[in-house]
Amino acid sequence: MPRPIEALIHTDALAHNLARARAAAPDAKVWAVVKANAYGHGIERVFEGLRGADGFALLDLAEAERIRACGWRGPVLLLEGAFEPRDLELCSRLDLWHVVHCSEQIDWLAAHKTHQPQRVFLKLNSGMNRLGFAPMAFRSAWARLNALPQVDEISLMTHFSDADGERGIGHQVAAFEAATRDLPGERSLANSAAILRHRLRSDWVRAGIMGYGSAPDFPAHDIAHWDLQPTMTLRSRLIGTQSLQAGESVGYGSHFTADGPLRIGIVACGYADGYPRHCPTGTPVLVSGVRTRTLGRVSMDMLAVDLTPKPDAGIGSDVTLWGRGPKDSLLPIDDVAHAAGTIGYELMCALAARVPVHVAP
Ligand SMILES: Cc1ncc(COP(=O)(O)O)c(C=O)c1O
Repeated sequence: MPRPIEALIHTDALAHNLARARAAAPDAKVWAVVKANAYGHGIERVFEGLRGADGFALLDLAEAERIRACGWRGPVLLLEGAFEPRDLELCSRLDLWHVVHCSEQIDWLAAHKTHQPQRVFLKLNSGMNRLGFAPMAFRSAWARLNALPQVDEISLMTHFSDADGERGIGHQVAAFEAATRDLPGERSLANSAAILRHRLRSDWVRAGIMGYGSAPDFPAHDIAHWDLQPTMTLRSRLIGTQSLQAGESVGYGSHFTADGPLRIGIVACGYADGYPRHCPTGTPVLVSGVRTRTLGRVSMDMLAVDLTPKPDAGIGSDVTLWGRGPKDSLLPIDDVAHAAGTIGYELMCALAARVPVHVAP
């Protein structure tokens, strides 16, 4: 018998969420962002659900090769561009578009021998201060690129730091407009939070987390508010039960102590599966589709849950750590991430390699 934990990927939910991105940005082409192995889902596993996108944006050549191996012939964008000069050879071979965010990447292009000019996305640092040319340097970077025979079309992009929060995007949009005024080329600005919250017009939007059924601005809004569906379910089963008396505690460090008789279940899921160890007592979990809470510390292979709301649960009962539960029950990954003091992105990406992952039928 394999250990009962598994993750399921929901193709219908991926397609639904992509349609939500299209509806929120009706005039734009949509990049489905599949970096970090499709936010932990597996590039090959999400391909079917996201193949309605206009292109796939991702991180590196290995991911680009995988999306081409899925049979995708359309646009593929390397979001951080080349990491070294020889990456440009594969860009030519696989027909990849790539971000140019620093002058070294322009030097590499200038030295690149190719018969096929490459499409690039020139990135402005409009305030995030991660990657991109400073506004003062942007036009000269554009002019250098424009003079290169190795370069085909030049698109213009930036990335928002606060699309999900109070500060918003106004200051970055203003910086982008000032730096790009009168420059030709398609524009790409919005991530999920900007797509949903700011409805900014641009030629290409970059839909990442919303595609995977997590609200980019949780807890201000949840997936029900944005009409998104969970695309990953992590589920397992009870492999033990215990009956505690008042004063008895649970797990390492005795972090939870019962104040009265309490029946608990032991779930085959722990931090070595990617479930956060720092989830405190009270983190939501479903047992047979009924919402309850975790108790005490998460251990490597197990965690404990309160069976009070589901007294008939026993060994073999279904446990949903996040995603879709039985009988139309649902536990958004954002609820779990919030309890753990993190975001849905991190939980998806951290799903451990030992967890078997299947595309749901
Ligand atoms: C440059 C860039 N564009 C788009 C995205 C997608 O962002 P989100 O997952 O918030 O939609 C990311 C993700 O971090 C990114 O780095």
